[in-house]
Amino acid sequence: MSQEQHFSSLLSQRGARTAACRDFLYDKMVQVFSNMYHPENNPKGIVNLGTAVNSLMEEEVCQRLNRGDAFRVMAHHLHYANFSGIDELKEAVADFLNRHFKPLEPITPAKISTMCGATGCLDGLAHVLCDSEDVVLTPTPVYSRIQTDFLDVANVKVEPLELLDEEDFEDRTFSLQPEAVERHVKELRAQGRRVRAFVLVNPQNPLGEVYSPALLTQLLNVCARNDIHFIVDEIYGLSVHDENTEFRSVLSLNLPDPKRTHVIWAMSKDFGLAGLRVGVILSQCPGVHEFFHNACLFRTIPWIVQHAGATLLKDTVWCDEFYLPTYRRRLAHNYHMACDRLEAMGTRVRRGSAGLFIWFSVKSFLCPVTMEEEGVLLQEILDGGLYIVQGKVLYCTSPGWMRLVFTVTEKELDEGLDRLRAVLAARKLRLAMKEP
Ligand SMILES: Cc1ncc(COP(=O)(O)O)c(C=O)c1O
Repeated sequence: MSQEQHFSSLLSQRGARTAACRDFLYDKMVQVFSNMYHPENNPKGIVNLGTAVNSLMEEEVCQRLNRGDAFRVMAHHLHYANFSGIDELKEAVADFLNRHFKPLEPITPAKISTMCGATGCLDGLAHVLCDSEDVVLTPTPVYSRIQTDFLDVANVKVEPLELLDEEDFEDRTFSLQPEAVERHVKELRAQGRRVRAFVLVNPQNPLGEVYSPALLTQLLNVCARNDIHFIVDEIYGLSVHDENTEFRSVLSLNLPDPKRTHVIWAMSKDFGLAGLRVGVILSQCPGVHEFFHNACLFRTIPWIVQHAGATLLKDTVWCDEFYLPTYRRRLAHNYHMACDRLEAMGTRVRRGSAGLFIWFSVKSFLCPVTMEEEGVLLQEILDGGLYIVQGKVLYCTSPGWMRLVFTVTEKELDEGLDRLRAVLAARKLRLAMKEP
């Protein structure tokens, strides 16, 4: 009996379906969180370079939030307010993103709703734009919760558009071709499926790629031509570590179908504030903000937390002159250090420009090069005291890819990389001994 059938004797069908959903990352994370590495308190614990957490500026962000103005309770925080976001937060987000995303049309509070993290925003958009059983298309490999965020509650199917581990004419692997998106939409429609949206993560997770304005425009045009929504998750928009790369929000481009273009951003990654659960939806689609106004009644971000987020974003000097430049410097430093060490171990890094992670290949350590062997190696790495994420979990169909998060303290990163080197060296030796 499936778990869903087991639950359905007591629960509703939809309750049983959601209860039976399982996040691919869940099992390993339970193991990791119950035995987390700490240099003094638990040095033998597991180093977590799997979860996309940004602790590069933890101390500074805590200091800013503890200054006294952010978490100060005022009488109006005790009462009801606008559930889709208090004016103070919407104004602060509009101001902040007008400076950093440089939209062609200024972002105004009326175009913003707020929800619990980007996760809440994706679930909300799944509800307001799609019906149960509708299909959205997303390029893979991808942050695997895109799948669960659309499916678990809204029951919207995410159809992968597989990016290939093959070099294109510019010698890039996993390249995204707008023609392939259009072809896939047409194929799905020919099968009688209702394709409602194209979902893009930009900068991409796990590739760390920043898509160019030219490519984004082509993708926007494909969506406009086919009357499908363009949802873009720009949660890593300010986490660019390559000084030669400029991130361009789609809002800074000429939008062929503005009513069907929706942008998500959150404070979880660029500010390392996943615990605050401040996510925002920027949309000009009639009805979207009315939907969030009603839906947010059930899951609003507490006012005091909204006030804290707004206080930080409103502090222009702290954000623009201190936080962002310092953060980007540390991001670049850790990124280059980790890439160099990974390459010195014999892995192949696919260089990216943004994000908190490195996408690298361990194919040369697999024999045979299969998903099963990838899983065996991942377990060896975990047994060696390090948690990273295997490509399979991120919907990569080419075996031998892994994602490593580098935005932890240098001590933790060093320790994690030492452990990885030890596991890979032992494996290399075993493979060499097997060779005739
Ligand atoms: C692309 C992407 N979107 C959304 C999230 C989740 O964001 P939040 O914590 O704001 O829900 C993540 C977290 O890893 C992510 O990588």
